[in-house]
Amino acid sequence: MDPRIKSIEDQVNNFLIKTKEDLESYRLQFISKKGVVSSLFDEMKTMASEHKKQMGKSLNDLKQLAEERFKTAQEALENNASTASADVDLTLPMIPNKTGSQHPLNLTRFRIIEIFERLGFNVEDGPEIENDWHNFTALNFPENHPAREMQDTFFVEKNPDVLLRTHTSNVQIRLMKNRKPPFRAIMPGRVYRNEAISARAHCFFHQVEGLYVDKNVGFADLKQTLYHFAKEMFGKETKIRLRPSFFPFTEPSAEIDISCLICHGKGCNVCKYSGWVEIAGSGMVHPNVLRNCGIDPEEYTGFAFGMGIERITMLRYSINDLRLFSENDIRFLKQFKPVI
Ligand code: DAH
Repeated sequence: MDPRIKSIEDQVNNFLIKTKEDLESYRLQFISKKGVVSSLFDEMKTMASEHKKQMGKSLNDLKQLAEERFKTAQEALENNASTASADVDLTLPMIPNKTGSQHPLNLTRFRIIEIFERLGFNVEDGPEIENDWHNFTALNFPENHPAREMQDTFFVEKNPDVLLRTHTSNVQIRLMKNRKPPFRAIMPGRVYRNEAISARAHCFFHQVEGLYVDKNVGFADLKQTLYHFAKEMFGKETKIRLRPSFFPFTEPSAEIDISCLICHGKGCNVCKYSGWVEIAGSGMVHPNVLRNCGIDPEEYTGFAFGMGIERITMLRYSINDLRLFSENDIRFLKQFKPVI
């Protein structure tokens, strides 16, 4: 064997490859077209044939050895780079740590619950798929009354009427029918209406219902409770205004407005230049509703209210399009950080 081949074989075996740069100089020296192995192949072409044969075999073995060494060293370097680098601890949490955030409607719901719980209100729940009686009839909506028109919804079955509830007032009925007064409860939940979807209306949204039934509950209790709520929710400076209104299930009825948070009463496009923004409907529970639930209106009186969570959230955070709440756009949602 040509002594040069033996010596190159030793060099291949002993070449230290620790970095990418080492690998590259190894490649240039032994593998590339200009390397030592190639030049011996060139030399061989000029040799006599019996020499050529012998030399050819040893050179091919050398070439194979050099290439194998290259491949193993290259793989080892790649594996090292992806795993065993000493200063990376793969057990640490990912940076940045994306934990998500609370939905703004939930933040508002939790705040509403917190305020009323401190006044002694429980949280109650009721079904979203409801029958006509709980959603309308028991709430003193006479059949064919125009008040039903304003709350068109989605019917699961037409006869008997099974529908998606149009308001959380159905829970008032379930509560009063199934338990004995006194009651002091709020009832948050999702409601549905057959509405054209726009920046101000959707076919589903959220409400919080409130109900207080006891002996001697009067209109002053209603007003003071909602005034307290408005100040807690929107700030001490907030004023409230009660406007006479109509709901079949309350008598008298009032719409609750708060002084506009944006212009403080001066007039702006949020309050439509009136200085006031509506936040809830309310009133004294109609005697027919109490009777429908087996409660004697001579003995008990009560007030009720219902407010839209979307509306309050829009006022709280100056959001001008209600569709944002259900579009799941992370750029919108991640702006709401819970205060833990
Ligand atoms: N249920 C009414 C609605 O969805 C809101 C409401 C008004 C609820 C007055 C009440 C109430 O409890 O007393 O439009």
